[in-house]
Amino acid sequence: MEKIKNGTLTINNVGEVVTLYGWVQKKRDLGGVVFIDLRDRSGICQLVIRDNNSFYALASSLKNESVLRVVGKILERESKNPNLPTGDIEVEVSELELLNSSYDIPFEISNDTTALEDTRLKYRYLDLRRPILQQKLIMRHKITMAIRNFLDQEDFIEVETPVLCKSTPEGARDYLVPSRCNKGKFFALPQSPQLFKQLLMVGGIQKYFQIAKCFRDEDLRSDRQPEFTQVDLEMSFVEQDDVMSLTENLIAHVFKEVKGIEVKLPLTRMKYDDAIRLYGSDKPDLRFEMPIYDITAIFKNTTFTVFKNVVDSSGTINCLVVKNKANEYSRKKLDQLTEFVKTYKANGLAFLKIDDEITGSIAKVVSQDEIESLKENLNLEKNDLILIIADLKYMTVKTALGALRCKLAKDLNLINSNDYKLLWITEFPSFEYSEEENRYVSCHHPFTAPLDQDIDKLLTDKGNCYSKAYDIVINGYEAGGGSIRIHNADVQSKMFEALELSEEDIKNKFGFFTEALKYGTPPHGGLALGLDRLTMLLTETDNIRDVIAFPKTASASDLMSECPNIVDSKQLEELGLSINNS
Ligand code: AMO
Repeated sequence: MEKIKNGTLTINNVGEVVTLYGWVQKKRDLGGVVFIDLRDRSGICQLVIRDNNSFYALASSLKNESVLRVVGKILERESKNPNLPTGDIEVEVSELELLNSSYDIPFEISNDTTALEDTRLKYRYLDLRRPILQQKLIMRHKITMAIRNFLDQEDFIEVETPVLCKSTPEGARDYLVPSRCNKGKFFALPQSPQLFKQLLMVGGIQKYFQIAKCFRDEDLRSDRQPEFTQVDLEMSFVEQDDVMSLTENLIAHVFKEVKGIEVKLPLTRMKYDDAIRLYGSDKPDLRFEMPIYDITAIFKNTTFTVFKNVVDSSGTINCLVVKNKANEYSRKKLDQLTEFVKTYKANGLAFLKIDDEITGSIAKVVSQDEIESLKENLNLEKNDLILIIADLKYMTVKTALGALRCKLAKDLNLINSNDYKLLWITEFPSFEYSEEENRYVSCHHPFTAPLDQDIDKLLTDKGNCYSKAYDIVINGYEAGGGSIRIHNADVQSKMFEALELSEEDIKNKFGFFTEALKYGTPPHGGLALGLDRLTMLLTETDNIRDVIAFPKTASASDLMSECPNIVDSKQLEELGLSINNS
């Protein structure tokens, strides 16, 4: 089998006779001579066929995307193309075989195609011929190889876990698979291999990893797919620092191998509460500063009723400072920002522009003292813009300003796209209150170990329990997350009790698992990286579909094979299912 080489031939190959395979990217028939750009995965090489060549007629009749085998001699070009890696040479064809022709293609195979994404997804096999997508898949392969090599060196073994399994509690909806042999019963596709990897630790595997397919039926976003891949790992006899150190060394290895980037270790660590307080997010993008300031105290004696009501009810007043840009924000732009924060449940956005005379939506209702105090505390200078949200709910203020901070950075071009900022977020709360379920639910999953000092609070002070959980964040994306697990059956029971799970629920859902914990379970912990997200970051795209060969649309369907789709009534019958169309 020949090497893939069209795009690799250079002036050093002149004089060689080569056999090339590939697709006709472009044909130029200049009358008397035909030039063909022959594309393979490595790039493009120019073929030349003159009218004294017995293949001239065939060459002039070729359509784009026809598949060829050619033999020819590499010559130095008369007029070189410095924009092409193979621009110094061309191949004078001595044999040309049309291996297959192509119908007219629905869109041009080029990196800057104008085809709509839906069209590209319908003809994904053509889309995949575009070099830009191929490069992303090649990068994904290199990342996966680097990960496998690194983990192999570190004594990890790759173990596959079932795809047909019992529902795992990762918080999303399950994809269900009906069982034919057990009518009326269902498998769930794994949201992650969480329980299996813990059972592998009970099974004495000690260091496990898997490039694992996971399935979650959740609302999709530009960084979420219903079917995605995790680099899932778990280790026995470890503490939080061991897992974090292994993971950051793994990530640094990948950055070095595939991008040549040195990541400075150890990575910064930030507690969850600080991340929310300063950046309004548990995945802060630290490629730019612009922290959130708490200015509640400045308004403790305010006469401005909106702020007064918030202060009197122990609410929160926070702001962002946009340095030296006040003059770029017209009323219209500020109205748009107000609409933006409203989508995050904030009631409104107040603003002040700093100049000799202070202007802005609340300039007339705040006192001179308050202005002076703002100036002093926030180091305000001329032309600074302050954007303020006041609300009774702390998280509403933080989340809205956190999102606004990212929007402003994008709008104002504050982010250097070549930059990578990695950090750990630690000490997540064990529980969050679910208004819907009217009880505390797990922030991660119910097997996450609480901090040692918080075990006693599990039943009495759930709002103040923190866990040995950690997320790795890169450029504002949650690239991975994990925790030290509960390995003690008593603590696990306490956790279930805290989650108000009934004995029966526990037995039905995780009986097999709690049983396993009783038989000499080693202390263990682990983490899963989102392979798709890591590849997105390293290939500099913000669309997860770009790094998956056959992705799903935002409505979780595949436009190419048209799935999901209806099935034969016979199939349904065998499964004992019927469709209720009402
Ligand atoms: P978690 O749910 O945080 O942890 O998932 C780990 C990582 O997987 C990626 N990810 C996704 N990527 C694309 N599309 C999705 N729908 C999607 N959902 C998650 C993210 C995330 O950080 N079992 C635990 C891990 C552990 O505790 O060891 C787990 O699954 O990058």
